[in-house]
Amino acid sequence: MGNAYYAPDATRATKVSALFARIAPRYDLINDLQSFGLHRLWKRRLVRLAAARPGLHALDLCCGTGDVAFALARAGAGVTGLDFSEEMLAMAKQRKPSAGTGQVEFLHGDALQTPFPDAHFDVVTISYGLRNLADFTGGLREMHRVTRPGGRLVILDFGKPPNRLWRSLYFGYLRFAVPVFGRIFCGDAAAYAYILESLQHYPAQEGVATALRELGCANVGVTHLLGGAMSLNYAEKAR
Ligand SMILES: C[S@@+](CC[C@H](N)C(=O)[O-])C[C@H]1O[C@@H](n2cnc3c(N)ncnc32)[C@H](O)[C@@H]1O
Repeated sequence: MGNAYYAPDATRATKVSALFARIAPRYDLINDLQSFGLHRLWKRRLVRLAAARPGLHALDLCCGTGDVAFALARAGAGVTGLDFSEEMLAMAKQRKPSAGTGQVEFLHGDALQTPFPDAHFDVVTISYGLRNLADFTGGLREMHRVTRPGGRLVILDFGKPPNRLWRSLYFGYLRFAVPVFGRIFCGDAAAYAYILESLQHYPAQEGVATALRELGCANVGVTHLLGGAMSLNYAEKAR
């Protein structure tokens, strides 16, 4: 039987939106628990790859509760965080006063159709968002469109470890252990079983790198984290 929050067709966005509405209040807590706090380190790596600094104009798509947007802003960038879940954005806005200094604004919108002009940002990031889009290549096209020539695109998400044994162990963790967090904290195991379901329908780090090359990006690279269980893709928009 399929997962209640996954759909391969046009209804996907509605289901994903319902999922994040459901888990928003416990999202940050479960992130810490299921990753043993490591997602904080991976997001720091993302911000380093984004080379965020004062004067830079950054867009964080699928910003959720704001981790990456706040981190980019703390590094000095002016940041726009965009997400289609009002519930996740409400958590981000609630965190804003205690999230440190920096210039961040949060916008409601669809990552597949943003309201920004071409070449508007120096850097565009997406953390644990691309896998959730109904069309991941459409998401990359939109990231590429709004990045200025020479600007950076950085993507953090769950990956597919190349080592078969490690991949089986890791998928076992996602299949059996992670849904328990959903059941305990949100009364909904399917909301967290969705991670593995969505990952299985996502081409992960290698497919994302290929798509970035097909878009004509330069300096396309992949960093495997935890043996590829997580991955960072990065690229520059060709000048
Ligand atoms: C797993 S959360 C990631 C949140 C945050 N970036 C992080 O790393 O913690 C995925 C987010 O993507 C958002 N999202 C999914 N599809 C979207 C879309 N088409 N447009 C905008 N946001 C979307 C969800 O609402 C959710 O907040």
